[in-house]
Amino acid sequence: MIEEIRVVADDARSRLEAASSLEDLRALESELVGKKGSLAGFKRAMGTLDPDQRAEVGRALNAASAEVAAALVARRRQLEHAQRRGRLEDERLDLTEVRAGRDAGHLHLVTAAIEELEDTFVGLGFRVAEGPEVEDDWHNFTALNFGEHHPARDMQDTFFVDLGAPREVVLRTHTSPVQVRVMEDQPPPIYSVMPGRVYRNEAADATHLAVFHQLECLVVDRDINFGHLAGTIDMFIRAFFGEGYSTRLRPSYFPFTEPSAEFDVRRPDGSWLELGGCGMVHPNVLTNCGIDPEEWSGFAFGFGLDRLAATRHGVGDLRDLLSTDIRVLEQF
Ligand code: PHE
Repeated sequence: MIEEIRVVADDARSRLEAASSLEDLRALESELVGKKGSLAGFKRAMGTLDPDQRAEVGRALNAASAEVAAALVARRRQLEHAQRRGRLEDERLDLTEVRAGRDAGHLHLVTAAIEELEDTFVGLGFRVAEGPEVEDDWHNFTALNFGEHHPARDMQDTFFVDLGAPREVVLRTHTSPVQVRVMEDQPPPIYSVMPGRVYRNEAADATHLAVFHQLECLVVDRDINFGHLAGTIDMFIRAFFGEGYSTRLRPSYFPFTEPSAEFDVRRPDGSWLELGGCGMVHPNVLTNCGIDPEEWSGFAFGFGLDRLAATRHGVGDLRDLLSTDIRVLEQF
């Protein structure tokens, strides 16, 4: 009987070792192992043996069962490992791969727009400045002449950071606080542009994102007037989009500019894109930054870069700018 046990166990082991998939292995497991397995018959037959033999056969049977169980575990581990390797291989993305005949990649549309606009403005003698995305109330609101109870400070628009006094630290809601930092840091004349990421507590949809980008422009010099503002906006829009695009200003309100306007871009098909806000820097803002409004005047404008980039590339939904889907990215 011991010899028979050997034969059955060896057969079971070699069949388990030959299993080529986890599914086959599961089928073999129920056929070969456990109460209904091929060794189970010997257990029942042992009852007919005399006690000496029974002990010996019992030991052989236990050893054979353990061998078969170990063979099962070992084969399962091998197959699982192979399956995992296969899956990793299938899902592998070679990020260094350069496909013949096409570019390896490109800048994000918003990054490309920022770089191009910086070049445009640097060509006109402007400097580029940056400020922090986590701002204090002074730079984001107070220095910009926001009244203490201005609705833009309200919970709906602003993400407050749990630091310092309540509502003291915010994720900047616009790039205008960088105007304040530039004016605090250097005396006029100032010709600066300030690109960056901004945050508003809003639900994202096709034309709004909670995290987006703006470019701010600030000029402070002697005898700066509204014509300089309108001319600069019109110039950079034509430089960025090309001929066929033009701009218009509509009266508006911002606490930090007076007078204030909104500016729109006219596309060649005659449709209008609302782009941003602008105006003459409010005397209170100049004073808050240590600049004498009797001697200096300035203009500022700020606009959304995501919309600008989306319009330029015919992207209808701003959320597509955040997509990591290769089918979206490959279109640009
Ligand atoms: N900061 C304003 C906004 O985010 C835009 C603006 C900038 C308006 C500069 C006037 C001057 O809406």
